[in-house]
Amino acid sequence: MRNKIRLLTPGPTPLPEEVRLALARDMIHHRKSEFMGIMAGVREGLKHLFQTEQEVLTLSASGTGAMTAAVNNLFAPGERVLVVEAGKFGERWSDIASAHGLEVVALPLAWGTAVQPKHISASLAQWPDIRGVLVQASETSTGVLHPINELGKLLATRDILLVVDGISAVGVSPCPMDAWSIDCLVTGSQKGLMLPPGLAFIGLSPRAWVRVERTASKDFYFNLLSERKKQSGNQTLFTSSVNLIMGLEVSLNRFREQGLKEVFRKQWAMTRMVRAGIEEMGLTPFARDHFTWGLTSILLPPGIDGQKVLSLASETYGVLMAGGQDRLKGRIVRLGHMGHVDFADLFAGLYALRQSCIKLGGVSGSRDYLEQAAAAYEIALERFDEEVTHV
Ligand SMILES: Cc1ncc(COP(=O)(O)O)c(C=O)c1O
Repeated sequence: MRNKIRLLTPGPTPLPEEVRLALARDMIHHRKSEFMGIMAGVREGLKHLFQTEQEVLTLSASGTGAMTAAVNNLFAPGERVLVVEAGKFGERWSDIASAHGLEVVALPLAWGTAVQPKHISASLAQWPDIRGVLVQASETSTGVLHPINELGKLLATRDILLVVDGISAVGVSPCPMDAWSIDCLVTGSQKGLMLPPGLAFIGLSPRAWVRVERTASKDFYFNLLSERKKQSGNQTLFTSSVNLIMGLEVSLNRFREQGLKEVFRKQWAMTRMVRAGIEEMGLTPFARDHFTWGLTSILLPPGIDGQKVLSLASETYGVLMAGGQDRLKGRIVRLGHMGHVDFADLFAGLYALRQSCIKLGGVSGSRDYLEQAAAAYEIALERFDEEVTHV
């Protein structure tokens, strides 16, 4: 093996050493005081991460588990919800809601574009009995960032819940639950949180809890009322994912020590770096305007097969990126830059991407793309406070 493996996928993401060491600790019991002490710290750390005063519950599941818990606990079968379908994960909201017997009004958008408040307003006018809007903060399949802040303003004064899948946004870009009037925010462990897959998190606003109480879900495993009661005593309802939670404690401490703003500054700078790099090498970002901060989706020139780019980059350079999903399969490459990734990893990512494209038929951009990318990184770090005003 000539090169280090660099995991530049939009989840799972690389793990910091201190997290790996925490994961390797000896087993402790989930009903004893040592675990309860860890859980108490985790509960506070999750509030900090979600930027909320509310309890954030930890579930043993992948992110889809928290999405399912949200739908099943917030809405009763037969109620109507609006789903922003701007990619594969938007469609997942619809699938989960349909499986629960909800009436789904889908708002399909061209992949690569973001929803606008006027789209939501138009649907609400057409369907006055909509009880919730389900949307991604970051649509990982396309690399788009939806304007959650604006949707929060739109829905805060109506009896309509804003339910946000923040699986590739929390800990990556600003998504302050309380300040943005988000009623339900979910995420998973394997992306911005720098942990292995296996934990999911869900935070609910006071009015969302009222809905949960009214809905009184009969679900046994994802029962948020029972889970909230148990977690308020620093235990989980069923056997806890003990080691993942020990890793989580360390990861949450990192967010506190570094400060969310500094985490976001770095994420923003890496996003600008990758966009500058690919544009300099003659490639086009798939999400033009509303782009997410944890990955960059890159449109490949006609004739260059994304699957082959991924294989070459991994076999030759040890760089693991992700491809397009569904209709974007083979057409885009998704270069992940969330979690424990830094600018030096991205030099490798950009280089591997360009060299692989050249081998497969060529790109014709500037040869100093790495320098340009580095310059964009430095500038973005410096100008973060001017350019990003909503942190
Ligand atoms: C935005 C988004 N939603 C949902 C999911 C599904 O999460 P999981 O695979 O952890 O269930 C993902 C995972 O990639 C995602 O990025």
